[in-house]
Amino acid sequence: MFITFEGTEGCGKSTLIRNLSTRLQTLGVPHLVTREPGGTRTAEEIRKIILNEEMDPLTELFLYEAARAEHFKTTIAPALKQGNWVLCDRFTDSTLAYQGYARGIQLPMIRTLNRIASQRRSPDLTFFLDLPVEIGLSRASDPNRFEREGVEFQKKVRKGFLEIAKKEKKRFRVIRVTDLDPEQVCEKVMRALRKHL
Ligand code: TMP
Repeated sequence: MFITFEGTEGCGKSTLIRNLSTRLQTLGVPHLVTREPGGTRTAEEIRKIILNEEMDPLTELFLYEAARAEHFKTTIAPALKQGNWVLCDRFTDSTLAYQGYARGIQLPMIRTLNRIASQRRSPDLTFFLDLPVEIGLSRASDPNRFEREGVEFQKKVRKGFLEIAKKEKKRFRVIRVTDLDPEQVCEKVMRALRKHL
C-alpha cells in the first residue's frame, strides 16, 4: 500500500501520520513514514532551498520534481518492493494543487513531470484533510514561504485539491477535520483503510 496525505497548511497531517504509524506498529504492519519534499538527504537539502529562498515558479516546480525523483527512486520504490506500506506526507497532488492550481503553471506539464518523477506509480489511497484555510494558517508559528503567501493563495490550493478529489474519487478520501480531534481523524482513516483492504 502506498498512501499519501495531503492538505493545506496546518491541517494536521503530521500528527495523523504519527498516530497512524503507532497503530500500524501495534498491528505489526511493516511501514515507512516519509515526506515530500524530503525523505532523503539530497531531497531534504532541496527542501531547505525551496522553503527558504525566493525563486521563479518554474524553478520551484523543477526542484519539487527533482526532490521527488530522488526520493521515489531511492526510498519509496525500494520500500514498496520489500513489502512495506509507505505513508508519505504530501506527494504529486501537492504539486498540482500548489504549483498548478495556485501558482498557475499548466496542469498537463505538471502531470507529465509528476509521472516521470514517480515512475508512473500513483498512490493507492490519498487522504485529503480538509480544514478552513484561515484556521490552518493561524496555527503556523514559524511560517514558511507558502504559508506567507496568505489566505487567497491557500484557498486556491484547497480548491485545487478538491477538484482533483472530484476527478479521482476512487483514490481520494476527503476528511473534514474541523470538528475532529486527532484520535477521531486517525479512527476515520483506519476505517477507510480497512474498507479499502
Ligand atoms: P509541509 O509544510 O507539509 O511539510 O510542506 C512543505 C511545503 O511545500 C508546503 O507549504 C506545501 C509545499 N509543496 C508544494 O508547493 N509542492 C509540492 O509538490 C510539495 C510536495 C509541497
